Amino acid sequence: MANSINSSGTDTYVGTARSRVDGPAKVTGQAKYAGEFGAPDLAHGYVVSSGIARGRITAIDASAAEAVPGVLKVLTHENRPRTAWLDYNYQDAVAPPGSPFRALYDDKIHYSGQPVALVVAEDFDTARHAASLVKVAYEAEAPTTDLTAQRDLAYDPPKKRSGIKPPPAPWGDAAGAYDAAPIRVSQDYRLAVEHHNPMEPHASTVVWEGDGKITVYDKIQGVANTHGYIAGVFGMKKDDVRVLNPYLGGGFGSGLRPQYQLFLAVLAARALERSVRVVLTRDQMFSFGYRPDVLQTVSLGSDAEGGLQSIRHDAISGTSNFEDYQEVVVNWSGVLYDCDNVALSYKLAQLDTYTPSDMRAPGAVTGVMALEIAMDELAHETGQDPIALRLKNYSESDRTEGKPFSSKSLRACFEEGAARFGWSTRNPEPRSMRDGRELVGWGMATGIWESMMQQSGAQATLTADGKLVVGNSTGDIGTGTYTILTQIAADTLGLRMEDVTTKLGDTNLAEAPLAGGSWTAASSGTAVMRACQDLAKQLFTLARGLDDSPLANVDFERAVFKDGRIAVTGDESRGIAITDVLAATGTDTLEATGSAGPDAAHQKAFSPYTHSAVFVEVKVDEDLGVVRVTRVVSAIAAGKIINLKTARSQILGGVVMGIGSALEEESMLDHTLGRFMNHNLGEYHVPVNADIHDIDVIFVDEEDKANPMGVKGLGEIGIVGTAAAVANAVFHATGKRIRDLPITIDKIL
Ligand code: MOS
Repeated sequence: MANSINSSGTDTYVGTARSRVDGPAKVTGQAKYAGEFGAPDLAHGYVVSSGIARGRITAIDASAAEAVPGVLKVLTHENRPRTAWLDYNYQDAVAPPGSPFRALYDDKIHYSGQPVALVVAEDFDTARHAASLVKVAYEAEAPTTDLTAQRDLAYDPPKKRSGIKPPPAPWGDAAGAYDAAPIRVSQDYRLAVEHHNPMEPHASTVVWEGDGKITVYDKIQGVANTHGYIAGVFGMKKDDVRVLNPYLGGGFGSGLRPQYQLFLAVLAARALERSVRVVLTRDQMFSFGYRPDVLQTVSLGSDAEGGLQSIRHDAISGTSNFEDYQEVVVNWSGVLYDCDNVALSYKLAQLDTYTPSDMRAPGAVTGVMALEIAMDELAHETGQDPIALRLKNYSESDRTEGKPFSSKSLRACFEEGAARFGWSTRNPEPRSMRDGRELVGWGMATGIWESMMQQSGAQATLTADGKLVVGNSTGDIGTGTYTILTQIAADTLGLRMEDVTTKLGDTNLAEAPLAGGSWTAASSGTAVMRACQDLAKQLFTLARGLDDSPLANVDFERAVFKDGRIAVTGDESRGIAITDVLAATGTDTLEATGSAGPDAAHQKAFSPYTHSAVFVEVKVDEDLGVVRVTRVVSAIAAGKIINLKTARSQILGGVVMGIGSALEEESMLDHTLGRFMNHNLGEYHVPVNADIHDIDVIFVDEEDKANPMGVKGLGEIGIVGTAAAVANAVFHATGKRIRDLPITIDKIL
């Protein structure tokens, strides 16, 4: 493992299992979420949503709603106050190219569920009731929401999405090699549209502070994004806007872009000069981003023993009629296996829906699902064990970039995962394993995700009582960021975790990127470590300057920060307590900042990825068509693990969501209405406790030098490959190859 953070060479907290420092606040209800913050005189907004998917509003009659006692205002496109947005085409940090959706902009309807009015009232129930009285007349046009019908209109995105790599240029001759290959597997794959459905609905509470200043509690994965959005859209000074998101009840990507409830709440607060809260309903949670529908074809050509001679992966993804959302889908097919002839393509087709959005491991969930089912098909065709096939084609470098991996311990994932699962006793024959009346299937797949880092700041303040406060503006979206930053800070300065407080999610704190992309541990973790290292230097200088200092003539490099003291390497009895240094020098507070960002030289030389091997056991009742995932082993190579408990929880969550992809999650469009039909948690199925059985998580040893801590990130890798492993297990159990996920009962029967 990478070196320790503590100067003694051993860490007390980093690398161990620690419970969440924010756990008690969350389970006792003291943790407050965006829709729970109050203000004196708080008004409540309720959104009226469009019933048509395409066309225009011909008339809005709000008179009945306005006549309800307690109603303060009904905002529509006809009376909306002017905003800076009219002259300014904002782009938020994660927006795809195009023209972002603008709520209440004009009479045009782009998608079903689009907000067409906001009713603001003294209380929520009045607003909701009055909203039902707003009469909207439309001129409807037939919507286009069926991706298969748009296949022939697919286009190459004219402008690349910032931060997203287009497909690599092809190498070799994939078509020729495929045609010449002794073994050929070519199939279409599809994953249903999914909605993030975090427990916490989107909400914004805008507190009117007077003098044109506002404080905003927003459901967002990064307050900097909301801050920039409000400043841009409303032409406000950033100093007049403070944004907080101390806790999030799940994001999964749905909170990356500011959503329309934020715009409406700020609009109403400014119009009324009063505090306003807008909370979306569960139904309305289906009225913005989702994991897109993608048409995929994977074609693999190999020699008789499964040695890959050709990989082709073609994808057409749905987007909206106003933005070119891109998550590329196919790129990992050029990274995971070593092949001399590879061609990958990615096109878009426009639909009359809202723009898709990033959803946990965007692109990889969809693309790796197809590739890894195709690899299982090739294993079956060539009579190879699925692990042996993957080892035969194991990539030692990233051929899409022409670089070695920064580290790749996928072999260890295969070995340790297979051993834990008992893979060696598998009978490769489909339908060969039974448990009573159930068929048993064992399947596996590989997962891969980028290991990223973003420029991030942090701050640290030490007070005379020996208490340390660290933090920055990033969010803890439920991943454990509060906890790992507390561990890192405590170990860097040799303090107890109880003496460290981490503050997050506030634009008054040091600027940091949004929480996403699995980059928070590496980015914010390194920044916090550096801020604490700066404090350590300041403390050391103070200590050495004391009369009769025990550190006299000692260099900083020999100092050890441990057990609340500064001591000397090799002679730890020689030292002084940190609180004594502060007292003796009359220091009330010491402050420091730190920053971290990607190492340009390392990035130029290496390709950083996390990897996984997922092993799944299913039991299938063929009479009822019911599939149960009875066992999962997920073996993860993600560099250094800061907290074994929160890390395991991230993988558990990813695996559960992957089981949801495989068996349950499916947002169904009615193409006549252009509307998602199952817009509630009764009909949009996610796994519940009864669906989840044994999940075993393994972290294999992996040393990486992409950042000083050797951390690669864990938020997304747990979901990638899981759905394919389930589908492959279902094939092994039943002999039925299902390429259209989720695998619902009707597809088994
Ligand atoms: Mo993630 S889809 O970057 O929240």
